[in-house]
Amino acid sequence: MRVLVGVDVGGSGVKSAPVDVDGGALLRKRTRIPTPQPSTPDAVFDVVVSLVANEDAAGPVGVAIPTVVVDGVARSAANIDDAWIGTDVRAALTSRLDRPVAVLNDADAAGMAEMRFGAGRDRRGVVIVLTFGTGVGSAVFVDGRLVPNTEFGHLEFMGDDAEHSTAARLVEEDEVSLRKWAKRVDKYLDGLYRVFTPQLIVFGGGISKRFDDFSKWLKVDCEVVPASLRNQAGIVGAALAAAALE
Ligand code: BGC
Repeated sequence: MRVLVGVDVGGSGVKSAPVDVDGGALLRKRTRIPTPQPSTPDAVFDVVVSLVANEDAAGPVGVAIPTVVVDGVARSAANIDDAWIGTDVRAALTSRLDRPVAVLNDADAAGMAEMRFGAGRDRRGVVIVLTFGTGVGSAVFVDGRLVPNTEFGHLEFMGDDAEHSTAARLVEEDEVSLRKWAKRVDKYLDGLYRVFTPQLIVFGGGISKRFDDFSKWLKVDCEVVPASLRNQAGIVGAALAAAALE
């Protein structure tokens, strides 16, 4: 069994766990530290270093972050400090951790984990994995291959950035009811369906554990299934990215 550490940097928490990268399971419960505020790269790097120091597993580390990532460099910042834009995250963490580091977008990581071990397993054609949390992340797969950095959370919807009206945060913080949110999300999914005609939409993020409570409001003409790795998917996908370095 190959065990590697996956780290998932989110808008509200930074989480890590050792992952069996051949079976997709966490070897122990994840550790979570609140995301420092302000969430500058240096402050978050300190948290990542302390989380990794607490894990036994050696070898490369995978780190998922909520930004566009090109060649290890963060290229956007929506729910994290603007100082991330232009930061070479891979170089900074490789030097601080003194081991190889893979850096990728958090939704891409979650999507990779769902495609390998979860709800998208063995699914061909166009599959869209969405993560509803503090923001909305997306990962698109064509015959199992990732098209990275798609950022569907920032498509225009209801005259604004889609994630402003569709993030799960709105329900978790009681700003909108589950019903109102789900009906909105349904319209948003319908817009995505019209443009991409996916064969499957995987509904991810922590809120997917309530899928049975809100799926009755999802009428989009496409198969929609809840993510099976829930909010562990980012950690598992980060560890998979690290495995690809080996
Ligand atoms: C970011 C994405 C990220 C998503 C989920 C969005 O605001 O732009 O890169 O995947 O939030 O964290």
